[in-house]
Amino acid sequence: MKKNIASARINIESSKLLKELNDSLPFDKELFREDIAGSLAHSKMLAKQGIISKEDLEKITQGLNELLEEIKSGKIELNEGDEDIHMAIERLLTAKIGDAAKRVHTARSRNDQVATDFRLYVLNNSLEIARLIKENIKSFVAIAKEHKETLLPGMTHLQHAQPINFGYHMLAYASMFKRDYERFLSSYNRNNYSPLGCAALAGTPHPIDREFTAKELGFKEPSINCLDTVSDRDFALEILFNISTLMMHISRLSEELILWSTSEFKFVTLSDKHATGSSIMPQKKNPDIPELLRGKTGRVYGNLMGLLTVMKGLPLAYNKDTQEDKEGVFDSVKTAKLSLMVLKEMLDEMQVNKENMQKACRVGHLSATDLADYMVKNLNMPFRDAYHLVGSIVNRAEELGKDISELSYEELSQIDDRFAKDVTEVLNIQNSMNARNSFGGTAINRVQEQIEFFDEWLDEGKKNS
Ligand code: ARG
Repeated sequence: MKKNIASARINIESSKLLKELNDSLPFDKELFREDIAGSLAHSKMLAKQGIISKEDLEKITQGLNELLEEIKSGKIELNEGDEDIHMAIERLLTAKIGDAAKRVHTARSRNDQVATDFRLYVLNNSLEIARLIKENIKSFVAIAKEHKETLLPGMTHLQHAQPINFGYHMLAYASMFKRDYERFLSSYNRNNYSPLGCAALAGTPHPIDREFTAKELGFKEPSINCLDTVSDRDFALEILFNISTLMMHISRLSEELILWSTSEFKFVTLSDKHATGSSIMPQKKNPDIPELLRGKTGRVYGNLMGLLTVMKGLPLAYNKDTQEDKEGVFDSVKTAKLSLMVLKEMLDEMQVNKENMQKACRVGHLSATDLADYMVKNLNMPFRDAYHLVGSIVNRAEELGKDISELSYEELSQIDDRFAKDVTEVLNIQNSMNARNSFGGTAINRVQEQIEFFDEWLDEGKKNS
């Protein structure tokens, strides 16, 4: 009978169905790099503390490094038999170097081992996702620089509201993405503690040095309480939440891009590289990429809800339920990275149809609020009275088949004889956009200020990285 190396008291071969349910190797093989890094650091510490010999350490180190290369190059395939990545690496190392390999698991349990591997994966990917977010912020800022004078109808309730410019709209996304970036980094800092050496749940009687392994693996420090550490998956939940919020932002942008690519809007034209056709309608060019980005947001939310639900009833410390933490995180991380790469390419290559945006500003009476503000300032009217009067002017403009910005001084004077000639300036769409020059507003000088803010922030990042 083949004896399972991780089962000391089980004397009969495991049921095939148990193995199918229990084995995590098919998915946790993703963690082979982290698992080998953890074993290298742990063995180095064991030798430093005199727990294993220098000779054994040499064999272990060489064996693990060889294994790493063999797995990377595909010479060794991790695909069946072993229960999980930890047992697979231990078995392969034992086959390679013999007895020394059996000493690696001294003062360690798979409970702290998996917590270490998975935490390293989550931390490294948090930095990688943050880097990709920054790449997209650069694209938003580049578009903003080009389009800070491109008029666009700003909407509320998806109805024309007030004129803004396309650059300003892109910088709204830069702001959202900057928060996302910061969220990944703050989670990184909060969770940057090493679980290695926590062992099964309560620490170990061996004279280990957790500080040393933490530093070897690039963690800030060892975690403070082993009981918590082996059962904590907050770091995984945080990355799932951070990805969900990021994808929610990507999904909102995707929705706008889909809308803006319709024949009704034609505000943007996606590159042919990023659109697909229809198998029956020869004329079609479909925005599949933003649709997929919007769609993938759903599965990413599902992964977050899945793990929150797995964790909610677990007593301390490790429970096998926790093995369910990985697939959703791997899936969300891959989805986020691919989505960010595709989004950047699409933004960089999309065509912005200035004229159509501009034309759209001529309907919907975008400067109506400006006329009310004018009356408050120049005619000393209470805002509410001005608001009602402008309402009737809008109705008059509709009767004439015009936008409020197209009414002449004469037409306005017929409605109220208190208007001065400069009233038409106020109704001009470009002027209306530039009038909103309060801090954070859409006026060109404020947009310029925001561009400089993001440029400086991107520059700071360069200096610090
Ligand atoms: N494959 C397991 C997981 O992913 C590793 C930890 C197993 N620990 C144990 N005590 N059975 O959670």
